[in-house]
Amino acid sequence: KATALIMAGGRGERFWPRSRQALPKQFLSLTDDGKTMIQLTVERISALVDLEDVYIATNEAYRELVLAQLPGLPEQNILCEPVGRNTAPCIGLGAMHISRKYEDALMMVLPSDHLVRSTPTFVRTICQGLEIAETSPNLVTIGITPNYPETGYGYIRYNPDETNGHAFAVDRFVEKPCLEKAQEYLRSGDYLWNSGMFLWRVSSILDNIKMHMPDLYDGLQTIGAAIGTPSETRILKEVFPTLPSESIDYGIMEKASHIFILPGNFGWDDVGSWLAMGRIRKSDAEGNVLRGNIATVDTNHCIIESSGKLIATVGIEDLIVIDTDDVTLICDKTHAGDIKKILAKLREEG
Ligand code: GDD
Ligand code: MG
Repeated sequence: KATALIMAGGRGERFWPRSRQALPKQFLSLTDDGKTMIQLTVERISALVDLEDVYIATNEAYRELVLAQLPGLPEQNILCEPVGRNTAPCIGLGAMHISRKYEDALMMVLPSDHLVRSTPTFVRTICQGLEIAETSPNLVTIGITPNYPETGYGYIRYNPDETNGHAFAVDRFVEKPCLEKAQEYLRSGDYLWNSGMFLWRVSSILDNIKMHMPDLYDGLQTIGAAIGTPSETRILKEVFPTLPSESIDYGIMEKASHIFILPGNFGWDDVGSWLAMGRIRKSDAEGNVLRGNIATVDTNHCIIESSGKLIATVGIEDLIVIDTDDVTLICDKTHAGDIKKILAKLREEG
C-alpha cells in the first residue's frame, strides 16, 4: 500500500512579488497549463496513490488554500502545523498519521513545488524506488545528475559497485555545500543532487528518527498518541512548537547509514527562481517569456508579467519585470537570486 506525504509549508520568497507570505510558490500556477504546483504534484502521483492516502503537510495558515486547490482530498488529510519547524518534524507528523491508518505502509515524501517534465518516467522511477523500500529498511532518495555547482541542493556520493535494482548505495550525503565543495563534487562526477523526494516504509523512517533525532521521536510519540482523540489539536499546538527545527536532510539523511539513490531522468526542475520561467514556459521569437497584457519593441530575453495594466517595453534585454496590484519588481536577470535581499530590506523598513 503506497501513501504520500506532500510537503507544502515552505514560504517560497524567490517568486516575490507574485508569491507572498499569504500565497507561496506551491499555490501558484507558473506553467502554461494554468495548474498550480501542488495540483500538478497530486496529479503526477494519481496512478500510484489513492487520493484518500495523500496527505498534505502545511502550515495552519494555508489550510483553506489547500482545500480550495485540491477538491476531493479528505479534509482530515491536511496536516496543519501550528508553526513551521522545517521538514524533519513535518515528515515525522506525516509518518505518525499514516501509521495510525496502516500497519507499516510505504510512504513517498514529495515537495509540493517542483516540476517534472515526463510523468511516465517519473512514475516508473518511483515504482522502482518503492520496490526497494518495501523489501528492505533502506531509505531511498531520487538523484538528479548535476550540471552546475548549485549550493542550494544536497549532494550525494554513491557507490557504483553496490546496487539494488536500478539504485546505488549512498556513501555520503552532503546538504548544501559551499561553492568550492559544490564545484569539486561536480568535477568528480561521483555525485548526484538530492531531489528532495524520498521513499521508505513508515517504520524505516521512524527507526531513523529514533536513532538520530531522539527528541523529535519522543515529541512525535506524544503527538501520535493523541491523534483521533479529543485532545489531538491541543496536544499538537503544545508539543509541535517544542520539536527541533531541522530539515530531514541535516537531521537524518546526512547521518543515516542505509540509503539508496535512484537516478531520476524525468526532467526535474525545482523552479528555484524567476529564471526558471525561461526553461518551463514558451518564449516568443525574441526569447521573451510574457504573461498578460504586454507590448514589446526591441525587447530580448526578458521575463515579463502584467497583472492587467499594459506593460510596454522598448529596447531592453535580460530583465525580469513582474507587475502585481501593489508591487512592480524590475530586476536584472543576473540578480534573480537576490530577491530575498529586497524582502529583507522592506522588512527592516517596516
Ligand atoms: N509542511 C512543511 N513544513 N513543509 C515545509 C516546511 C515546513 O516547515 N519547510 C519546507 N517545507 C516544504 C517546502 O514547501 C518544499 O516543498 C519542501 O518542503 C522542501 O523544502 P525547501 O525549503 O524547498 O528545501 P530546500 O529547497 O532548501 O532543500 C531541499 O530540496 C532540494 C531540492 O530542491 C533539500 O532536500 C535538498 O537536499 C534538495 O537538493
Ligand atoms: Mg526547495
